[in-house]
Amino acid sequence: MERTFLMLKPDAVQRGLVGEIIARLEKKGLKLVALKMLKVDRALAEEHYREHRGKSFFEPTVQYIMSSPVIAMVWEGKNAVAQARLLMGATNPLNADPGSIRGSYALDISRNVIHGSDSLESAEREISLYFRPEEIFSYPKAGDDWLSE
Ligand code: TYD
Ligand code: MG
Repeated sequence: MERTFLMLKPDAVQRGLVGEIIARLEKKGLKLVALKMLKVDRALAEEHYREHRGKSFFEPTVQYIMSSPVIAMVWEGKNAVAQARLLMGATNPLNADPGSIRGSYALDISRNVIHGSDSLESAEREISLYFRPEEIFSYPKAGDDWLSE
């Protein structure tokens, strides 16, 4: 089973989209194994987006992620990294499938409501940035047996 790191960005919280987005992830069959609300500080924001350091959008993106509380989460499931990226849609909402989260709820690349790890390696790194091991739960869930053969 894979785990992926997802974050509901400040705009998702401010716009009241937390419940709807979490409901989509639950209905997909992914399992919520960790969740917290926090205000991201500069050190964490710069570490989170370190692969983008030096790019024109780095500083505005860091500012945005620090601007208001976020919801950090770990979701588990078969191919969780790729499945979550599929539900999220393309980075630029203009190119995101209309049924995706970004396609449904966002207009602008700089306010695209959700972050998700882009690979297993990123997922491990990002999970460890936001969560201690004891904050992540392994538990059997009703319906687990019905999600795959
Ligand atoms: P990136 O990792 O490329 O996208 P994703 O979130 O889909 O993994 O970029 C990180 C964030 O930076 C992206 O969600 C929004 C912001 N961003 C911009 O504001 N402008 C841009 O041109 C790009 C590429 C990203
Ligand atoms: Mg990315």
